[in-house]
Amino acid sequence: MKNHARLGMSARAFLSRFWQKKPLFVRAGIPDFVDPLTPEELAGLACEDGVESRLVDSRTWRVHFGPHPESAFRKLPKTHWTLLVQEVQRFVPEAARLLDAFSFLPNHRIDDVMVSFAPKGGTVGPHDDSYDVFLVQGQGRRRWQIDARTRRDRALKTGLDLKILKRFEPQEELVCERGDILYVPPGVAHHGVALGDCLTYSIGFRAPNRGELWHELVHDAAETKAAEPLYRDPNIAECKHPGELDLASRKRVREMVRALDLSDGAIDRFFGRFATRLKPGHDLAAPPSPMTTGAFAKRWRRGDAIARSEECRFSYFRSGGSLLFYCGGHEIPIAPRLLPLAQLVSERRRFSSRDTSDSLAKDPKAQQFLTALANHGAIFFARAKS
Ligand code: SIN
Ligand code: CO
Repeated sequence: MKNHARLGMSARAFLSRFWQKKPLFVRAGIPDFVDPLTPEELAGLACEDGVESRLVDSRTWRVHFGPHPESAFRKLPKTHWTLLVQEVQRFVPEAARLLDAFSFLPNHRIDDVMVSFAPKGGTVGPHDDSYDVFLVQGQGRRRWQIDARTRRDRALKTGLDLKILKRFEPQEELVCERGDILYVPPGVAHHGVALGDCLTYSIGFRAPNRGELWHELVHDAAETKAAEPLYRDPNIAECKHPGELDLASRKRVREMVRALDLSDGAIDRFFGRFATRLKPGHDLAAPPSPMTTGAFAKRWRRGDAIARSEECRFSYFRSGGSLLFYCGGHEIPIAPRLLPLAQLVSERRRFSSRDTSDSLAKDPKAQQFLTALANHGAIFFARAKS
């Protein structure tokens, strides 16, 4: 059951005409949108340890990073400030469900749900981002201006805490109201100003750069057994010029570097771990003592609801005759017949054995797989029934 945002066109048409190409404004893209939290709850989150937040003065562009003392909110002026809180999907399940509206894009591309609250005049100024974003409007109204020129001046104002564009020449202006969506591709300058108390939800995407991939691939490879052999030279010849990097030494190092496995299979498996690994500061809450498959299976078979951790992503791929499942940087090889279960887990934040076929619900391999996920802390039995 897919509950996608209504983009006024098929997801396919949106992806081919707008995604990473040009902005799109959608009136009532999420009809009857209900804010998953109140401004007070957002401020409460920003006071907690482990929650990333920024309080921006929209007149001076000064930024204060959280956690904030409660007194910070009592001292604020009536207008011209913004509070931004990252990763709200981790703390507010209803905010996590907002991500389902965009599940026509793969899990590995999704970054987080950032929520901002601003009174009248609150803004983070004219800027561009290096990632795609869907800006969903909650309570209140926000005026957006867009400068979508491809050859514009990207220079920033200097000496500020925020990246504010020196020159911003909007060609488009619109006002977002509850449930409206503005899609902004990477590099397109935008400027949103609250017209009154307003909550805005940014569904942000992530895209690794080449340097990050290389760095992480090598780091990942360096942690394997294959990285262990030591540089050895039992037959080393006497050297006359100790400063020379002689050919035999260079050859030894070339060989060691080239031993890095860059086969498709090795890169794909690295990608699975990389795409689903935890961000720094995130933890999977593994149970204090591991669950047995028997104990898990008992609750699974009776249809108890299972919820997913919002700390990690869930992905899989089929390669030849095998099926590899990834979550939280863990690789779990599973029987290919479990594909519908891999899809269920990676597509639904909440599910139960009732969402699978009878044969899959009873399949011992399926139960082992889910028990492994539960023991990693990637899934857990939810309190209420689904
Ligand atoms: C905001 O919510 O105020 C800023 C979001 C953005 O411009 O990316
Ligand atoms: Co932005």
